[in-house]
Amino acid sequence: MPNETLTVTDNRTGLNYTLPLFRGNIRATDLRQIRTGPDDFGVMSYDPAFLNTACCQSSITYIDGDKGVLCYRGYPIEALAETCSFLEVAHLLLFGHLPEADELKDWDDKIRQHALVHENVKKFMDGFHHDAHPMGMLVSTLAALSTFYPSARHVKDPGERDLQVLRLVAKVPTIAAYAYRHSLGLPYVYPDDTLGYAENFMSMLWKRTELKYNVNPVLAKALNILFILHADHEQNCGTTAMRSVGSSLPDPYVTAAAAAAALSGPLHGGANEEVLHMLDEIGSVENIPAYIAKVKAGEFRLMGFGHRVYKNYDPRARIIKQTAEQVFAISGRNPKLDIALELEKIALEDPYFVQRKLYPNVDFYSGIIYQAMGFSTDMFTVLFAIPRMVGWLAQWQEMLEDSEQKIARPRQIYVGETQPAPVGV
Ligand code: CMC
Repeated sequence: MPNETLTVTDNRTGLNYTLPLFRGNIRATDLRQIRTGPDDFGVMSYDPAFLNTACCQSSITYIDGDKGVLCYRGYPIEALAETCSFLEVAHLLLFGHLPEADELKDWDDKIRQHALVHENVKKFMDGFHHDAHPMGMLVSTLAALSTFYPSARHVKDPGERDLQVLRLVAKVPTIAAYAYRHSLGLPYVYPDDTLGYAENFMSMLWKRTELKYNVNPVLAKALNILFILHADHEQNCGTTAMRSVGSSLPDPYVTAAAAAAALSGPLHGGANEEVLHMLDEIGSVENIPAYIAKVKAGEFRLMGFGHRVYKNYDPRARIIKQTAEQVFAISGRNPKLDIALELEKIALEDPYFVQRKLYPNVDFYSGIIYQAMGFSTDMFTVLFAIPRMVGWLAQWQEMLEDSEQKIARPRQIYVGETQPAPVGV
């Protein structure tokens, strides 16, 4: 049995410390015993942007960034995307196992029942300006749901938590679709409980005057896959917001609003929208070398490239690339795909990107496929947020059940004035 400890020598004092390794890691609080004297606070770890800090133990999602592996609860993402419905995967993430047939029926029925939103939500959304960004509408409306369900604040009650999980997973497509219809000035379409999760979302988005929306099964299947790929991704910025905000025990509606706000940024979920703007700006294949030169000169980043964890091809990007072909067979080929493919080819050969291990991430191809399916660019991040709600809620539940978790409260290294400044001088 190897000695699972680390010996640290403090060269200031000459003292040695034996730190136990916990699953191969040190606990940061064990560093505090390393002090120069009784008045010394002790050593902390300094890690801006959490480059090398684990903030929790989790059994939900596994990523091997070097090998390009992603698994939910032990199942490879490729197998889940090929064989499962989004609600099966949601069940897996939230409850830890793939549902049996009767469990799936019960879960699916409940989601259909809870898809309606209070009529006042429509009035609330009517107040948004006609050109409000759908992500802004989603974030605000998620927070507003908190006022409709006051008992949701009892976050220590597992029964209450389960009810809010159901409501959030069921209602987020409805809110997303209302945001879309609002920006077009179209009447809101109520959920259709005879349709599956992705199909119902498409109906709420695109139904016009027909009695029943005619769902294209190929597009519904593609949306189902896209939802599965985006459902969770361990401790990313949005999920960290969910856990961090949730640690002070607010209700899950305001907590999920915080996570959605984090997702909306261009370095995170907002990147899919930025990729399309970038492809528009590049315009044609001949302009790519000049564009890459500017990226390498540090003028801006290649959107949809690079990842904090993946130092290999993002497995989600590979699946999206395959799914795109099926969508293009219906919608016609998106001409932006040629620019994206050439951009990827050049970038994957260029030493700047090779040395930094910058590969296409999930957002590189998702926007192109969303556009081919008929979504407007400003809906792209909303399409990311719908399935990610499942991951946020699974991580939130796990955090609340973890006896080691407390209110998130990092330390700082104070570098400001230490002498009290004279007042009124
Ligand atoms: N284009 C050009 N250079 C890049 C890029 C890029 N997209 N990403 C990283 N680099 C360079 C960066 O300039 C740095 O170079 P140097 O060492 O010379 O200073 C090096 O690569 C390391 O970058 P970093 O900023 O330290 O890496 P990070 O782990 O902090 O950032 C990232 C990760 C995803 C924010 C970043 O790669 C990025 O900004 N990518 C573009 C935005 C994007 O596509 N975001 C979606 C991420 S995947 C989905 C999601 O999380 O929501």
